[in-house]
Amino acid sequence: MSPIIAPSILSSDFANLEKEIKMLNKSKADWIHLDIMDGCFVPNITFGMPVIRAIKRVAQKPLDVHLMIEKPERYIADFKKAGADCLSVHWEVCTHLHRTINQIKELDMLAGVAINPHTPVSFLEDIICDVDFVVLMSVNPGFGGQRFIPNSIKRTKELRKFINKHKSNAMIEIDGGVDLENAPILVDAGADILVAGNTVFGAEYPMETIKKLKVNN
Ligand code: DX5
Ligand code: ZN
Repeated sequence: MSPIIAPSILSSDFANLEKEIKMLNKSKADWIHLDIMDGCFVPNITFGMPVIRAIKRVAQKPLDVHLMIEKPERYIADFKKAGADCLSVHWEVCTHLHRTINQIKELDMLAGVAINPHTPVSFLEDIICDVDFVVLMSVNPGFGGQRFIPNSIKRTKELRKFINKHKSNAMIEIDGGVDLENAPILVDAGADILVAGNTVFGAEYPMETIKKLKVNN
C-alpha cells in the first residue's frame, strides 16, 4: 500500500509560502507537515499560530502539526483553532501524556506521540492503544536537511511488531532524512506516513519527487 506523504515546509521558501502551499495542493501530497519549535525543547525556533492560520487559508490538505515545544498541553486548543488536523506531542516533554492525548482527541484532531531517536519504543507500552499515530524521529529534532539515522529502520520494524502485538491501530510516521532511497525500505519495515522536507523542497521538481515518494512504494 502506498504511504501517506507529508511534505515538511521547513525547507520551503518562506518568502513564497502561498506558492509553495498551492504547489502541495496540486501535488500527490496527502498531508502538510508543520514543525513548531520553541528554542527550548529543540535548539531552534520556527513559527507559530499566525503562520499556521495563514497556511490554513490556502491549504486544501490536512495540516499535520508536529510540536517540538515544552509543555505543549498549554496550547492544544490554540493549535486546533489555528487549523491543525493532526497534532503530535513529544513523549519526552509530556508529564501527563495520557491527558494531553485525550485533550487532542476530544478536539477532533488525530493525536500523535513523537519519540526521539534515543527513546525506547517500549516506553509507549501504556499509550499505544490511545494514539492515532506515532512519530518516530529518524533524526534528532531541531533542523531540516539532516542525515537519516540508519538505526531508525530497525526501530520502525520493532514499532510495527509492538503495535501489532498490542492490537493498536496506530499508524507509524517517519520524520527526518527521508529520501527516495530509504522511503521504500521504511514502508517495507512498516511505515504508514513519510515526512519529507529537504527531499521535496530541495528537488528540482518537487511535485515529481512527491509522486515518486508515493508510488515507488
Ligand atoms: C525535524 C523536523 C522534521 C524536518 C524534516 O526536527 O521534525 O519534520 O522538517 O525535514 P527533512 O526531511 O529535511 O529531514
Ligand atoms: Zn517534524
